Amino acid sequence: MTLDYQPQRIDITHLEAVAGLEALCFSEPWSAEALKLLTTPDAVGYVCFSNGKIAAYGGMLYAPFEGQITNIAVHPKARRQGFGRAVLNALIRNAQECDLEQIALEVRASNAAAIGLYEKAGFFVAGKRKNFYKNPAEDALVMLKSLKEDK
Ligand SMILES: CC(C)(COP(=O)(O)OP(=O)(O)OC[C@H]1O[C@@H](n2cnc3c(N)ncnc32)[C@H](O)[C@@H]1OP(=O)(O)O)[C@@H](O)C(=O)NCCC(=O)NCCS
Repeated sequence: MTLDYQPQRIDITHLEAVAGLEALCFSEPWSAEALKLLTTPDAVGYVCFSNGKIAAYGGMLYAPFEGQITNIAVHPKARRQGFGRAVLNALIRNAQECDLEQIALEVRASNAAAIGLYEKAGFFVAGKRKNFYKNPAEDALVMLKSLKEDK
């Protein structure tokens, strides 16, 4: 198997495949149309390939002073091989290059895999949003990573 951990910037040609990945991973997936946002100046996204197919992706919106991670998803067959970390590191590097002060995200409170990924990258739990998610209903943890100490 050929793994390519080098994340590439997402572009319009990736959107159908990324929407397929979203549908595999989430109960309320982003459509290809909605994912177009990640190809605009308001946001950034990265994809990683395995055997020529998109195995992972992540997106981040730019807000004043802050990057807001929209989602990170790894194909179920490609998990625990470092793709999630590769995509997250690309988003963090991009936020540093854009001189943002912090990165924020929401994650399902029961999502131990994602919480583990984010904690290892230096995110901490800053709060909770009650019943933030639907299908199934669940609280979100708000996680933050400060980029100030990295400067
Ligand atoms: C969460 C997710 C992105 C992790 O991607 P991944 O490629 O499997 O993760 P990596 O192999 O890069 O692992 C990086 C770290 O994440 C944590 N992690 C990943 N999977 C984990 C699991 N099943 N249980 C506990 N920790 C886990 C570990 O800390 C791991 O570091 P380690 O391998 O040194 O122990 C992946 O499981 C996924 O796509 N889940 C479904 C979609 C989702 O929930 N996305 C997050 C939305 S906020």
